[in-house]
Amino acid sequence: MAFCGGAYGDEGKGRLVDEYVNEFSKNKKVILYRDNGGSNAGHTVEFGDVRISLHQLPSGVFSKNATVVSGKGMVLHPGDFLEEIREVKKAAGGEVPAEIVIDEMAVLCLDTHRAFEGVLKDWQEGGKGSTGRGISPAYSDVLLRHPLRMRDLANWDEAKIRSHYKLYDAIINGLNGNLAKTEVNSLCEEGTTTIKVGKENDFVKRLKEHADLLKPHITDVFEMLSSSWKDEDKFAFVFEKGQAVGLDARYGVYPDVTASDTTFAGITSSTEGVIDAYNIEYRTAVIKATYMSSVGARKLPTLVTDKLADQIREDAHEYGATTKRPRDIAYLDIPAIKFFKEVGYTNHLAITHMDIVYPKTPVKICVAYEKGGKEVPYRPDQEYLNKVKPVYEDLPTWDKKALQKAKTVDEIPVEARNYLDFVSKALGIPILIITIGPKREQSIRL
Ligand code: IMP
Repeated sequence: MAFCGGAYGDEGKGRLVDEYVNEFSKNKKVILYRDNGGSNAGHTVEFGDVRISLHQLPSGVFSKNATVVSGKGMVLHPGDFLEEIREVKKAAGGEVPAEIVIDEMAVLCLDTHRAFEGVLKDWQEGGKGSTGRGISPAYSDVLLRHPLRMRDLANWDEAKIRSHYKLYDAIINGLNGNLAKTEVNSLCEEGTTTIKVGKENDFVKRLKEHADLLKPHITDVFEMLSSSWKDEDKFAFVFEKGQAVGLDARYGVYPDVTASDTTFAGITSSTEGVIDAYNIEYRTAVIKATYMSSVGARKLPTLVTDKLADQIREDAHEYGATTKRPRDIAYLDIPAIKFFKEVGYTNHLAITHMDIVYPKTPVKICVAYEKGGKEVPYRPDQEYLNKVKPVYEDLPTWDKKALQKAKTVDEIPVEARNYLDFVSKALGIPILIITIGPKREQSIRL
């Protein structure tokens, strides 16, 4: 069972992952694997009365019979990771319920990367909308062939760490910045604060403290993944992607794209081929039922510009879980989502936020793009998208209260059922599950 964002992020994957991990963990050991992104993600999950935002820790961390794995394809910030562990411990009353495992090959994303990303913003347009978590500089280290990995922390390769600092110090100096004095984001009990990166010795000392605390979690995962993937009787796998296919640098709308592989293919590379993503039976794209949300400078063709956007933003809390920025609201865009489905090799849908509907307000949905009087497809190119004209259809709204009373799909209002059929047909794949309200139990399997 695998989940990815089917549009531009924030579709509510965390909650679904949490639900399936809980269910599977009743009779099998669950391996919850995340393969991409880092602290740029924000997955909100509920544990008892506590709502908690997870960024780097996979969402099943509250399940006892689960092992959550942060994979090779991720970029991890050690300090923020430890803070998340601390918050989970607090919410769970002392211990983290799941076992936490970090692939020793996962790439480090450090304060140096965050500082570089901040300084770069003064020099270029591209990264202005980033989450400020140093994601793209950390992935660049891999392409530039000088990444630091989790095992450099576990084995405490101080020379390598010092040379990393020196490199970023030189780069930032060359851009008229000052690494030691640059302020960067840092997770803390109250949410996010900023800290100064500090001089080389301060940076190394801080990292050493983090290394000692994280060391018990850092390990080679290859054998464990290989043997458990083959042992279906004992193990159930759940894969949680970060971000969404519409944020992938190859498929999204530049420049508001992230640096990781946000498609299911990333699972194959992150597990070094142990798990061929296309052998995962349910490759599920999560989308919101009646709208999409987006952060950044991109101009989506179906942007909602009237007061409906404000209403949805308030009702569905459409503010960044990581950055708290208000999100843009757009009508559901079938040409774009269909493209993401195809390049993402998705074979199922999960549809969230079915309760975001309003009386006497038909649900407007973009069914095609037109350009020069002809139907044209989605293409990941802002200049091209600026010229397309969305073709809309209005579908009947449904009664939210009746929807929320339903326990099975047959009990949901007929308009909602017709709507689901419409979306499933338009995208050519079946629906696995829908959510009908914010609470954990408010979901219906199809
Ligand atoms: P980065 O991932 O911090 O480099 O940010 C690149 C772009 O992806 C920016 O437009 C971010 O707002 C967006 N982004 C990154 N992670 C998420 C996410 O989890 N949800 C929605 N947008 C995201």
